[in-house]
Amino acid sequence: MAFELPPLPYDYDALQPHMSAETLQYHHDKHHQAYVDTLNKLLPGSGFEGKSLEDIVKESYGKNQPIFNNAGQHFNHTHFWRWMKKGGGGKKLPAKLQTMIDKDLGGYDKFRNDFIEAGKGQFGSGWAWLTLKDGKLEVTKTPNGENPLVHGGWPLLGVDVWEHSYYIDYRNARPKYLEAFVDNLINWDHVEEMLEKASS
Ligand code: FE2
Repeated sequence: MAFELPPLPYDYDALQPHMSAETLQYHHDKHHQAYVDTLNKLLPGSGFEGKSLEDIVKESYGKNQPIFNNAGQHFNHTHFWRWMKKGGGGKKLPAKLQTMIDKDLGGYDKFRNDFIEAGKGQFGSGWAWLTLKDGKLEVTKTPNGENPLVHGGWPLLGVDVWEHSYYIDYRNARPKYLEAFVDNLINWDHVEEMLEKASS
């Protein structure tokens, strides 16, 4: 069965002023749609058809770059929309996550700084992550469409640092976009859902 673009879980203007309707129209309707369409074109006869998206990401890594790029980006963006919400961000963390961030990452303020620095430090296109690996939290970054799945981890939270994610609203000011994402957009409920998925 072909993969489909999931609808945005909110209106296009829901994340303003931190992320504009124009950004979401381009990013979701054009960029994410293109990853889905290209993946669906590449799958027939590839040996990956019929597999779950997560399995395609893991199994195509290092073996089929075009399929990996588009499957990785479909996975990443599907969660990216849900990692944001109107009125999100800040320190209102679910208790279990707060405990883990305190224990593994030195507290919320250090997590915030390290996550923003990871996004700033990713040269060119890519993602910054809050990753669960071997039962512990880590802040990591990956290039292009890569994600923690291919490094033995599980993504709890990710932020897209491709220019298409912020150029309309922030031009070249990637740090401002990252601060707005962390302070005003993160949907901690979806982070918690990802944590529950990891342990199920
Ligand atoms: Fe993107």
